Amino acid sequence: MSAQNIILIGPMGSGKSTIGQLLAQRLGREFRDSDHYIEERTGVDIPRIFDIEGEEGFRLRETRALQDLTRLGNLVLATGGGSVLREENRQLLRNSGFIIFLDTSVDQQMERLRHDKKRPLLQTPNPRERLEKLLEERRPIYLELADLHLRTDRKYARKVAAEIIPLLPEPLRTHA
Ligand code: S3P
Repeated sequence: MSAQNIILIGPMGSGKSTIGQLLAQRLGREFRDSDHYIEERTGVDIPRIFDIEGEEGFRLRETRALQDLTRLGNLVLATGGGSVLREENRQLLRNSGFIIFLDTSVDQQMERLRHDKKRPLLQTPNPRERLEKLLEERRPIYLELADLHLRTDRKYARKVAAEIIPLLPEPLRTHA
């Protein structure tokens, strides 16, 4: 088996990409982001994938991306907020490393995402209601899957990254 990955899960706007990049720098690991991987592979952005193929098409691509990325080792991997929905994905994540749930309130998500145009699920008249519903459905899944659970509300990404490092299991903590 390839060396363990550090995997970030959590809702949109929880800081997975920012915190993930900082963690990767600090640990001398490669950073990958499943949404970016899907966009690179497809050649179009996520809103376009949703337009053409719907959420179902996007989820298929997401599973393929996770299959590819979890095969690699020594990564810090940021996942999309909905990547925990399929059992197949959860299995892939569980088997490939240490999972960190970045937990965030809807208030904080709203603050971080209020001008966002890149999240198709938020292009609705009431994004707050949508975020509340998604969190209610998904939070138990994030909690169940996580090896480590951390709140990121009102915290600088740098601080969260620094908090995570001493909480990692010893083999993952050392700089490559
Ligand atoms: C989604 C989250 C997004 C992206 C897509 C769907 C979701 O990723 O995968 O827009 O279902 O919560 P981020 O969590 O990185 O925003």
